[in-house]
Amino acid sequence: MIIEDKTTKEPLGQSGIVLQNIESQAELEIGYMLKRTAWGNGYAAEAAKGCLTYGFEEMKVRRMVSLIRPENEASVKVALKMGMKKEKTISKWDQIIDVYSITRDGENGSLEK
Ligand SMILES: CC(C)(COP(=O)(O)OP(=O)(O)OC[C@H]1O[C@@H](n2cnc3c(N)ncnc32)[C@H](O)[C@@H]1OP(=O)(O)O)[C@@H](O)C(=O)NCCC(=O)NCCS
Repeated sequence: MIIEDKTTKEPLGQSGIVLQNIESQAELEIGYMLKRTAWGNGYAAEAAKGCLTYGFEEMKVRRMVSLIRPENEASVKVALKMGMKKEKTISKWDQIIDVYSITRDGENGSLEK
């Protein structure tokens, strides 16, 4: 979905939930990206938390992840602000990727309830 300025309606970036294959498991990832001029205002964290609430309360999934390159400190902070914890490091897209995850009940588990 589009992230926009609530007052001016200016488009600032995107955030959403996408299906990913992680080590042969289906996972739902919360992704986020903003145009550079919009960074540092808390917009990504606000949008990502909205996705998390939607996934748990509307889609009724048990578990969601974010896939983050370890050097992307801003993205790590957004994942931590959502309450995610670093679970493991994988190789994907020919890159080292950290998997951050959170479950509705605080337990590790599968995607479905
Ligand atoms: C990652 C991204 C979405 C963060 O957006 P944002 O709106 O600036 O994030 P927030 O303001 O919600 O919070 C980011 C936090 O990281 C911090 N931060 C920002 N840039 C940073 C940097 N280069 N190094 C370390 N920390 C940084 C901010 O200070 C903030 O921390 P704070 O809340 O403790 O002050 C944005 O940088 C982006 O679009 N990057 C390019 C796309 C991308 O990397 N997407 C994620 C792919 S996994």
